Amino acid sequence: MSFFAYRNGEMHAEGVALASVAAQVGTPFYCYSAGALRAAWKEFADGIKGMNAPHKVGVCYAMKANSSLAVIRLFGELGAGADIVSVGEMRRALAAGIPAANIVYSGVGKKASELMEALQAGVGQINVESSAEIETLNAVAGQVGAKAVVTIRVNPDVDAGTHAKITTGRKENKFGIDIDLAREAFALAGRQPNLRVAGVAMHIGSQLTSLEPYRAAIVRVRELIGQLRTDGHHIDRFDLGGGLGIVYSDEKLPSIADFMAVVARETKGLGCELTFEPGRRLVGEAGVLVGEVILVKPGSAKTFIIVDAAMNDLIRPTLYEAWHDILPVHQPRPDAATIRCDIVGPICESGDFLAQNRDMAPLAAGDLVMIRSAGAYGAVMASSYNSRPLAPEVMVDGTRFAVTRPRPTVDEMLQAERFPPWMEPVKA
Ligand code: LLP
Repeated sequence: MSFFAYRNGEMHAEGVALASVAAQVGTPFYCYSAGALRAAWKEFADGIKGMNAPHKVGVCYAMKANSSLAVIRLFGELGAGADIVSVGEMRRALAAGIPAANIVYSGVGKKASELMEALQAGVGQINVESSAEIETLNAVAGQVGAKAVVTIRVNPDVDAGTHAKITTGRKENKFGIDIDLAREAFALAGRQPNLRVAGVAMHIGSQLTSLEPYRAAIVRVRELIGQLRTDGHHIDRFDLGGGLGIVYSDEKLPSIADFMAVVARETKGLGCELTFEPGRRLVGEAGVLVGEVILVKPGSAKTFIIVDAAMNDLIRPTLYEAWHDILPVHQPRPDAATIRCDIVGPICESGDFLAQNRDMAPLAAGDLVMIRSAGAYGAVMASSYNSRPLAPEVMVDGTRFAVTRPRPTVDEMLQAERFPPWMEPVKA
């Protein structure tokens, strides 16, 4: 079932007309469907059940994809832990009710102060990515009198076949410890008195549309786990990261059940507890960005549709050449002719576009448009460039909706700043 669909000619999120949300909160805004979030979670839960795994299998939601407190809370209530990459994210996860023990702390450059806060909070697992971090974490754990439970993230050097900016599992990427150097890193970690080395982690990239890179990476890590056990390490955790792709246009994706079947097959008999860190797959298709057409500007090469949502609200099209479907909120007639256009924001940069060379049914000033599959890496990557307030976030559940993050006023934005004391006060 699609949670965003036309009903009586108007685009709805579940039982709520997007036009009615726009009337109340203004545009642009992000809208998340609770039903779609739950459905995405259920695919994982069902897939895990289908694995019949002999060991615990957990999902730590990669909240970098969408760190709305309401979204985290929804997943937490369903049993998710959280994958975090900063203390800010840790504070959000805790504020949304995720127990510290169910938090995994990932990231290539954690500061000693951040590691200390994480240990003091009782974070369940720290995924370390370098020898330097192993030593820092050991020192910090000694200071707080904790034994840090770690996995070591290895870089299996496989090509995830995704956009260069979101590939993480190649030797030339900054992430993880080169799998060929992993045994030395485990030996170093094993010598640290304040660390308990529990397992291995990997994450090879994002928006993967094929399972083969995953399978290849698991095979490489599985071999490594065998070697590590021969070296005397007690390895009982395998963190497989995130990365499963979603539909932006017409991608053909493996199902979660297919994915879990591959994982089950390739980890059979490994004797490890498994953790998944999905982000995009849980939230991406469950969110949209809604904007309003400011004006239409016909040109000799193409028509520009200038909308009030811009690259500061959704940076993916310009940063990753990402395609997001864009649909008019008011359903066009099926026989409506299309025009070739760029859908762009008002920001003073040519890179400020949401779509280029799209064939769209004609739009006019005041029309609303919905940018699809914007639930992941949308609001979280937004900025207030051009002093544009961050777009608010709204959650729909059935026929009700609530603003989960209001749009800041410009006054609030200005109040966050200070003049240096040596400047003359501005005369009223
Ligand atoms: N675990 C780790 C260690 C990660 O680095 C990431 C994402 C995930 C899990 C979640 O991956 P997912 O399931 O969402 O693919 N801003 C980019 C995506 C960056 C992904 C960064 N790492 C985009 O908009 O496409």
